[in-house]
Amino acid sequence: MIKRYYRILVTLAITLHISTALDNGLTLTPPMGWLTWERFRCITDCKTQPESCISENLIKTMADRLAHDGYKDVGYEYIILDDCWLANERDNISLKLQPDPDRFPSGISNLADYVHQQGLKFGIYADFGVKTCGGYPGSEFYLQLDAQTFADWGVDYVKFDGCNSDPEDMDFGYTTFGFYLNETGRPMVYSCEWPLYQSLAGIEPDYSSIQKTCNLWRNHVDVEDSWDSIQSIIKYYGEDYNNMSMYAQPGAWNDPDMINGTVIEIWSRPLMEPKGSLAIALLQMSNPGAPTVVTVQAADPTLNNAGGYTLYEGFTGLKILDIKGPHDEFQVSVNPNGVVLFVARSL
Ligand SMILES: *[C@@H]1O[C@H](CO)[C@@H](O)[C@H](O)[C@H]1NC(C)=O
Ligand SMILES: *[C@@H]1O[C@H](CO)[C@@H](O)[C@H](O)[C@H]1NC(C)=O
Ligand SMILES: *[C@@H]1O[C@H](CO)[C@@H](O)[C@H](O)[C@H]1NC(C)=O
Ligand SMILES: *[C@@H]1O[C@H](CO)[C@@H](O)[C@H](O)[C@H]1NC(C)=O
Repeated sequence: MIKRYYRILVTLAITLHISTALDNGLTLTPPMGWLTWERFRCITDCKTQPESCISENLIKTMADRLAHDGYKDVGYEYIILDDCWLANERDNISLKLQPDPDRFPSGISNLADYVHQQGLKFGIYADFGVKTCGGYPGSEFYLQLDAQTFADWGVDYVKFDGCNSDPEDMDFGYTTFGFYLNETGRPMVYSCEWPLYQSLAGIEPDYSSIQKTCNLWRNHVDVEDSWDSIQSIIKYYGEDYNNMSMYAQPGAWNDPDMINGTVIEIWSRPLMEPKGSLAIALLQMSNPGAPTVVTVQAADPTLNNAGGYTLYEGFTGLKILDIKGPHDEFQVSVNPNGVVLFVARSL
């Protein structure tokens, strides 16, 4: 008797959930995956940063990593291409969005196929405004066309940003794009930034309608790779603004996703053994949030030996290059808040 009662309650609870959240069958647990923004931002120069620029090669590399390094096995499933994938203009005949032809020569549909072949799902970025945050074509006035284009390409997840739009229009705009996503017939996770932009503009987000429209929604600012950033986000969610926690349920999630100033610190420390070696760490903090190529003069980290040094990567011990003397310059790519460790041996 008690058992049956319990079962009815559970059924009721599940029914209630499904009747209020977006019903596209997706994100019954919070979606897990990898997205380009936090690390690679809007790097578009593939000549100087071939491994970091937003390109089909980057997405393929990351798909391989997710599939083969054990991430997929523990539930990471989406590879998401964030801002700065687009060409500067829509196709001038079809008016469809199109990728940058140099960085995505095979097209998005083929890229989605590649990701699917790794047993993963493919996500993409668009913006409700007239332009994306990075200044590429936005979806305002093209909501239906863009939803259909993404479906045709085999997209599984759409992150819909809100730069260059009026937050007052978002109640209408985000629901309309959601309607068109549904109309395509292809189930696509709908990731919104609607409450974030409204909160920043001092508008109280209508979470009950957000919950019916989006699979997940960003409430607060971007995460950065620093403890300060993570802590401030934890605090924001801990304070449960607008009772946002009430709206989380299977299919509908609050999405907890800045650092400022650029400080590059260089230090070195003489090692005891082997004689003549130096360990050097290059430490970069804060903005711009993407790997930055830094030019270092040997004398800065006190590599003053007139005969020069050989530099080795600190963790792998692999040789990087020879430097001829204190005035020689070399370049290193440093992650924000990242550390690059070298061992230098005098020649
Ligand atoms: C349309 O775009 C193509 C390539 O993107 C370009 O070569 C052509 O000049 C454009 N046509 C017009 C009418 O702008
Ligand atoms: C579209 O919405 C209907 C009604 O909520 C739902 O049953 C259906 O699964 C949705 N389809 C897609 C592709 O999202
Ligand atoms: C949040 O919930 C509390 C307790 O139910 C209620 O007193 C308060 O008015 C709610 N605040 C908002 C912004 O809905
Ligand atoms: C920049 O960092 C400082 C110290 O962490 C913080 O007080 C300030 O709010 C930050 N500014 C922005 C715009 O994030």
